[in-house]
Amino acid sequence: MTQKIRYFQEGLKNIRTVGTISRSSPFLCRKMVGLVDFEKARSIAELGAGDGVITRHILPPMHPDAKLLAFEVLPQMSEHLHKIEDPRLIVVEDSAENIQAYLKKEGIDQVDYILSAIPFVMLPQELGLKILRACRVALRPGGLFIQVHYSLLAKKLYEEVFGNVRIYFEPINIPPAFVLVSEKR
Ligand SMILES: C[S@@+](CC[C@H](N)C(=O)[O-])C[C@H]1O[C@@H](n2cnc3c(N)ncnc32)[C@H](O)[C@@H]1O
Repeated sequence: MTQKIRYFQEGLKNIRTVGTISRSSPFLCRKMVGLVDFEKARSIAELGAGDGVITRHILPPMHPDAKLLAFEVLPQMSEHLHKIEDPRLIVVEDSAENIQAYLKKEGIDQVDYILSAIPFVMLPQELGLKILRACRVALRPGGLFIQVHYSLLAKKLYEEVFGNVRIYFEPINIPPAFVLVSEKR
């Protein structure tokens, strides 16, 4: 069975957690990763890494000394993350709201970027806010929170937590997607 079909099945089974039935397209992955300054970034977090489709776009341009913490709650997804052989990748099988505990464990004060595909629209609003507030604390000043969405319903969450949001659009994805970017000021 191909990974695409398996992703479709897991997406259907866990639609409220996964939020979609297909992984991010290469176009969408490149749009998100293109917002990262890899010359400067030394610590990056990825939330809702799934089977690693964005992870695999983040790692190649990453600095040799940089670290990537990839959070994923579903074991049937994170098993694919464990197959990526890269000593800079730390797979975290826990919810993103606990980001600070894992940064502390790795000796990281704050991260330069957070890339997220967590389906905030599907989560209870309180949990979404809890995750976003933890991410704001975890980001260094000037750091970016980069989030994929399939609608602009959750835009107000980013305005509330970060006080700013820029919006990009990627049509070549199923479904077409928005990339919302907030800066920690
Ligand atoms: C839309 S999928 C994205 C998968 C992949 N990154 C992509 O872009 O195709 C969202 C992923 O977020 C994970 N997820 C949902 N809630 C989460 C949470 N609180 N913490 C970490 N991961 C979570 C889901 O299990 C799912 O794999």
